[in-house]
Amino acid sequence: MGNVHVLDHPLIQHKLTFIRDVSTGTKEFRELVNEVATLMAFEITRHLPLQEVTVETPVGPAQSHTLAGKKLGIVPILRAGLGMSDGVLNLIPAAKVGHIGLYRDPETLQPVEYYAKLPSDIEEREFIVVDPMLATGGSAVEAIQSLKKRGANQIKLMCLIAAPEGVEAVQEAHPDIDIYLAALDEKLNEKGYIIPGLGDAGDRLFGTK
Ligand code: URA
Repeated sequence: MGNVHVLDHPLIQHKLTFIRDVSTGTKEFRELVNEVATLMAFEITRHLPLQEVTVETPVGPAQSHTLAGKKLGIVPILRAGLGMSDGVLNLIPAAKVGHIGLYRDPETLQPVEYYAKLPSDIEEREFIVVDPMLATGGSAVEAIQSLKKRGANQIKLMCLIAAPEGVEAVQEAHPDIDIYLAALDEKLNEKGYIIPGLGDAGDRLFGTK
């Protein structure tokens, strides 16, 4: 079973408080989501392999390390996931970025893919799927499925806030996936919003209603 990691770094928790705050406006909300995505990316890239290199300092050779060149991919789920992708790119600028768009079929209420554009060397990359809110889990389950069916075999899921229902849905459908969160909240309400959550992440990021 994939693990759920709640990233309790003080800076992440501090910034998340202002992201939740209803009085935080669009500009600040977007900046904070970007910053928290960077901080979360810092935590979840701890496992990246290193290689030993020799570097010439002004006073002589030093044995040191560089990243061993693992290929990474970031996959924001449209649209709110876009708010987190630049934050991850701040730390891993060489990562490729794929996009997956999903809408909810009004009759079946199931997510349906309307857009997918992904890097060509999918099998070789480790992907970080990003979406601020893991609510019912439907979109994340479908996006991960979409990556797997195209050959991805190393996937992590990174969200700001999750409801227990969403975590369970992902764990049931994709027990191999590790989930990284800034907070695990209490529940979903009858409209599918995370309680206490932060409201509609897409609307708050893009200033829509
Ligand atoms: N999507 C959001 O943007 N917010 C929620 O609370 C749930 C899903």
